[in-house]
Amino acid sequence: MHIITTPGAMSAWSDEHRVAGRRVALVPTMGALHEGHLALVDEARRHADVVAVSIFVNPLQFNRPDDFTAYPRPIDDDLAICRAHGLDAAYVPTASDMYPSGFETHVEPGALATVLEGAQRPGHFRGVTTVVAKLFGAARPHVAVFGQKDFQQLTIIRRMTSDLDMGIEIIGLPTVREADGLALSSRNRRLTLAQRVAAVCVPRALDRLAEACSTGERDTVRLTELARSIVDAEPLARFEHLEIVHPDTLESLTTINDHAVAVTAVWFDDVRLIDNRLLSV
Ligand code: PAJ
Repeated sequence: MHIITTPGAMSAWSDEHRVAGRRVALVPTMGALHEGHLALVDEARRHADVVAVSIFVNPLQFNRPDDFTAYPRPIDDDLAICRAHGLDAAYVPTASDMYPSGFETHVEPGALATVLEGAQRPGHFRGVTTVVAKLFGAARPHVAVFGQKDFQQLTIIRRMTSDLDMGIEIIGLPTVREADGLALSSRNRRLTLAQRVAAVCVPRALDRLAEACSTGERDTVRLTELARSIVDAEPLARFEHLEIVHPDTLESLTTINDHAVAVTAVWFDDVRLIDNRLLSV
């Protein structure tokens, strides 16, 4: 496995494969790799001849300095996991490789980034689109794979790729979960044992909502209240938001007519977990 640290070396690696007629896939991550990330890698393999993962904890997308500092960075373990999983390359730039002095250009997302996570975390998605555009620029992939766990992120990246004519195929993959339903996340490592047990209230709340929807409840206020009551019943959980929106436009819905997605964020002390559930009637 090639370990690549600079944008120039990343482009050279990619160009070599492109010239040889091979399809290149990129799986962008912030590391602390888990089975969810590896599912993206497996999917990338199905769409390309060579697969690179990027590992970069992007300072631009953290709106809270404490969250950036506390974000796990087990880089040696991550590289061992990449090697064991047969990755062809790992792109691990430093912050100064990515943002050298004088750096001043950003990718500004539109209305999709102003709602949900974007409303709670100002500047977050501008940081995401900027770094993903840079990762795409360096790695020049034919295809890139993202998780539906970060539903809004996936929607915004699809939009950016299309708006900026990047010509990269974006693939979205369903969320990989623990046996009890909790979505895998690098942030789960920061939960205490008691919080980890309590965190199951997040997928349970979404299950309850989906179940009520499938048995005929279409009113989003009532569905939201139902889900919220499950989170509120858990003393270690602090409800932040739960909204039911259209999966393409992310616009709030009052009634579910066809497709919808329920999106939520819940805090456990200073750890913020997100999850979502697609609903269709
Ligand atoms: P990170 O949180 O490391 O996630 C990297 C990719 O893994 C994202 O596409 C995310 O949606 C996906 N992912 C995370 N948990 C998952 C799960 N349980 N099942 C399936 N996929 C999962 O998202 C980011 O990093 C960053 O914002 C990034 C896009 C790399 C830009 O910095």
